[in-house]
Amino acid sequence: MADLITEAVYGFIFMMPAFLANAVPVFIGGFGPIDRGMKFFDGRPLLGKNKTIGGLFSAIIAGGMVGIAIYFFFPKVMGDYPIWIGFLEGFGAMVGDSFGSFLKRRINLKPGGPFPPFDQIGFVLFAFLIVSPVTGLNWVWLGLVCGIALFIHLIANIFAYKMGWKDVWW
Ligand code: CTP
Ligand code: MG
Repeated sequence: MADLITEAVYGFIFMMPAFLANAVPVFIGGFGPIDRGMKFFDGRPLLGKNKTIGGLFSAIIAGGMVGIAIYFFFPKVMGDYPIWIGFLEGFGAMVGDSFGSFLKRRINLKPGGPFPPFDQIGFVLFAFLIVSPVTGLNWVWLGLVCGIALFIHLIANIFAYKMGWKDVWW
């Protein structure tokens, strides 16, 4: 049990660049949509207006900076990997996030519409996969961090509901 908790904490620290990358675009976006308003074959937006170029770059930069901080503060977690791994994690998180939007537009979900559990763990999955050629794929971390991501979303949404920021608790 104690081992599992240690693994969960290490896995979460390892994935912190991706978590930050996923959150920062909410506050720093701009420069227009990544898809430049382009439509897919079905006539619907490729990614939609909520996936911005500014969001993509702020995510990569935030992920990279967090990764560098972790490299120094938690060398036991990140010390064996390249110091720039956070940038790749941030990029992976945004690829997952954008792929989710791509799928949402294909089933005609409006930007911002709910698409569980992809909304909650898609970015984690893609961040793990994209860095795996460099770091290897730790399945235990992957499973535990997906669980943590679902839990964080649940708590954050209930909090936002209680504060009156959201109309529904999920
Ligand atoms: N965001 C952004 N650029 C990105 C990703 C996100 O500007 N590349 C911002 C947008 O303001 C977006 C918010 O972060 O509304 C929340 O992101 P997310 O939940 O991933 O997007 P949704 O609004 O749900 O849009 P979609 O339905 O396309 O997932
Ligand atoms: Mg969303």
